[in-house]
Amino acid sequence: MSVDSRDASKLWGGRFEDGPSEVFERFSGSLHFDRKLFQADILGSQAYARALAQVGILTEDEAQTISHALERIPEDDAATADDEDIHTYVIRHLKELTGELADKIHTGRSRNEQVSLDTRLWLRGEIDGALGLLDRLMEALLDSAEAHPDAVIPGYTHMRRAQPVTWAHYLLAYVEMFTRDRERLLQAKARVNVMPLGSGALAGSGFPVDRQALARELGFDSVTANSMDVAADRDWALDFLYAAAVTMLHLSRLAEDWILYSSEEFGWLELGDGVTSGSSLMPQKKNPDSLELIRGKCGRVFGDLTAVFVTLKGLPMTYNRDLQEDKEPLFDASAQLTASLEMAALVVRTSRLKPAAPRAAAEDGWLVATDLAEELARRGVPFHQAHQLVGRLVLESVKSGKKPGDWTGEALAEFDARFQPEMVRLMNPSEGMKTRTAAGGTAPETVRQALDAARKRLESML
Ligand code: ARG
Repeated sequence: MSVDSRDASKLWGGRFEDGPSEVFERFSGSLHFDRKLFQADILGSQAYARALAQVGILTEDEAQTISHALERIPEDDAATADDEDIHTYVIRHLKELTGELADKIHTGRSRNEQVSLDTRLWLRGEIDGALGLLDRLMEALLDSAEAHPDAVIPGYTHMRRAQPVTWAHYLLAYVEMFTRDRERLLQAKARVNVMPLGSGALAGSGFPVDRQALARELGFDSVTANSMDVAADRDWALDFLYAAAVTMLHLSRLAEDWILYSSEEFGWLELGDGVTSGSSLMPQKKNPDSLELIRGKCGRVFGDLTAVFVTLKGLPMTYNRDLQEDKEPLFDASAQLTASLEMAALVVRTSRLKPAAPRAAAEDGWLVATDLAEELARRGVPFHQAHQLVGRLVLESVKSGKKPGDWTGEALAEFDARFQPEMVRLMNPSEGMKTRTAAGGTAPETVRQALDAARKRLESML
């Protein structure tokens, strides 16, 4: 390739006598991944052409010509083209379509701000997509909670049966996590949605482009305040990656729960055939691969966050080419988040709770022990003594193989006079939970109100 033809296809050929080596081109090119920014690059360039017309660098007609030409640039060719990045790809096509006119589009504009603009535009759309999917998932969780208002499950600490809770209360815990994730994504979006164009390479624009007008036109809330910060900053990418990582963490914990709950050992949940796979060898298997993959992808998104953190650490002001390494983790995190949210909602929608199994588990162990101790405390027994007494009752029962349901009121009062015969009703796990009416507790009536509030909140967000 001659130096002249190289000059035409590069944005920076003039200063060089020799062209880049093929090895370096292969090493540094980013078009194979940053072509995702195609639409954003077109939109940004159209807006910038109009801004250049306003400051007299382009005539109105020229800006129009550029704008129309930008619309005619094919997206598909970027899959096989060998331009350095998406920005040079677009400029090369613009030049093919408009000739010399294209040479004016970079007046005052650097790829350093352009890549920030494009990535922010792209990420804004991705966040909107994730928010919609998050809402779908929360809807599915609320539907399951409402379908089983009376279902009781054992709640666990240390993976040991602790206290009975309702299925709805358990699901609402995840709705809380996903509601916080929603907030985090919106906070990230606010940081992403700041318009960087008009910052030049690092020192600001030498042309009085109307930055506020550019922001309005491109749907940004505000403009960035410092040109050096624009060239150096990827905090907005980190904000999104963190929000994505925490959302994945919640999805992963839900996945882990449901892998257990749908196992033969638990038998609480039947996962839909459509989200499970069989074994190539063992004919009986129905494996929870969808949930395992969500759990697996969570680690991958943590890696994406870490990758960008480590890339940024120690970069001198301002732009350094290392920053190009932000994109693949960012693209990957967004793709995994979107796919996992969609998958999780389908798993929730197609799973069937078999309430008898968790109910039996809640009756089987001594999950009601705390209810008994607290009832004694309500009747004046100091809690520590009540705790001791019920502890002895449990020990005795475990030794003699008695379940809570095996106790009669008389036997209870005989065991210790501080027990009243009527307290035997607390051996039913549905009873004691009725006292947990303090806000945030698992009393069925409290849960019903929490469910209504969550439903209203979700509907107001949609
Ligand atoms: N592909 C580059 C990136 O992703 C675009 C910016 C290039 N700027 C530069 N000064 N080489 O960061």
